[in-house]
Amino acid sequence: MRMVDLIQKKKLGLALSRAEIDFIVKGYTCGQIPDYQMSALLMAIYFQGMNQEETAALTLALVNSGERIDLSGIEGIKVDKHSTGGVGDKVSLIIIPLVASAGIPVAKMSGKGLGHTGGTIDKLEAIEGFRTNLSRAEFIHNVNTYKMAVAGQSADLTPADKMIYALRDVTATVDSVPLIAASVMSKKIASGADAIVLDVKAGSGAFMKSLDRARELARVMVELGKSLNKKTVAVITDMSQPLGHEVGNASEVREAAEFLQGRGARDLTAVALTLAAHMTVLGGAYNDLPTASRELTRLIDSGSAFQYFKKLVKIQGGDPEVLDNPGRLPRAKYHVAVEAPAGGYVTAINAEAVGMASMLLGAGRKRIDEPVDYSAGVTVVKKIGDRVKEGETICIMHTNLAEHQEAGAALQNAYTFSDIEPAPLTYVHEVIQ
Ligand code: URA
Repeated sequence: MRMVDLIQKKKLGLALSRAEIDFIVKGYTCGQIPDYQMSALLMAIYFQGMNQEETAALTLALVNSGERIDLSGIEGIKVDKHSTGGVGDKVSLIIIPLVASAGIPVAKMSGKGLGHTGGTIDKLEAIEGFRTNLSRAEFIHNVNTYKMAVAGQSADLTPADKMIYALRDVTATVDSVPLIAASVMSKKIASGADAIVLDVKAGSGAFMKSLDRARELARVMVELGKSLNKKTVAVITDMSQPLGHEVGNASEVREAAEFLQGRGARDLTAVALTLAAHMTVLGGAYNDLPTASRELTRLIDSGSAFQYFKKLVKIQGGDPEVLDNPGRLPRAKYHVAVEAPAGGYVTAINAEAVGMASMLLGAGRKRIDEPVDYSAGVTVVKKIGDRVKEGETICIMHTNLAEHQEAGAALQNAYTFSDIEPAPLTYVHEVIQ
């Protein structure tokens, strides 16, 4: 087999066979296929797409490039959750303790943030002492004993995905449905969950900007999950503005703690409760979604879910009192208000631009090996539907950088104002299963 023939085949829109896909993934990971040929193939896939069989073959080839985690030592149905990536998306911080408090084991493998999207691992590491490099034995012990554990994805898990994702990042080939579907599902399959709840984001802060594209991605991933014998549900949620009010690391921990104490923003409440409800129904805690929502709300109102969050921090090496006193989380030197350049209703917020501004302020990274500033970020004060006067504060920047004009201008440009009140947003668009 020659890579050049496979690139040509895909360029003409023909389907690649399982053997050909295996050849490509193995060849690329062992260094026999160079970046320039892989880049050409990725671009051909970007334009020509892949059918469901090819996408399934790619998913399995990515899984087989590394080890598969055996979670059979954990009792009960292990349900995992994955977001396709958004801005201000602190849902994992909320659902790990919330779902655990409902008795469902949560064995969560998470990633670091890249570009405009944040990562759960960075957010949790904003808590001093919080360890995400648990050994496999410790991870399984914690889930069995406390119903929850969160760890960074080990280097042994889907190494081919890591290499291909890094190449996609610099060849403008991230936002391809089959490539995202295979990348996400390979990690979920390799990390050993029995059932998977996918949070597929749609809107300005998501890879899938339109609902149609998000639906297409959700359908492909649900089909993949089913064909690989994993119960899979995809919830399409709104990412047409940052989720909740905080974008950053320490600030998102604080917002998650507030949520679990019953003070959640409306959009965050709708999205987090829907995802947690699906997880607990798949895990067998409740028979139906209305019961799950009611019971999960009760676990928040009673303080039980918040106690689980404190327990999670304690068992992974942090000081749980930080969640009661979030002033002890890392704090930036500068807090700068961004003023509305015009008056009117906020009709749109470019969430990707807010994510990029947060990254410029230090909260994110351009390259996966860069450090992040846990204290930096953006508070999104005004959201879609709010009415503002010219000069009123729409956002607050938190940073240790003296130079923050570029981020301030980007935040102002991220907002659209109008005299006409926008229609209320739908936070949860649809569920595909
Ligand atoms: N998240 C992933 O894990 N992979 C992608 O390709 C895109 C988002």
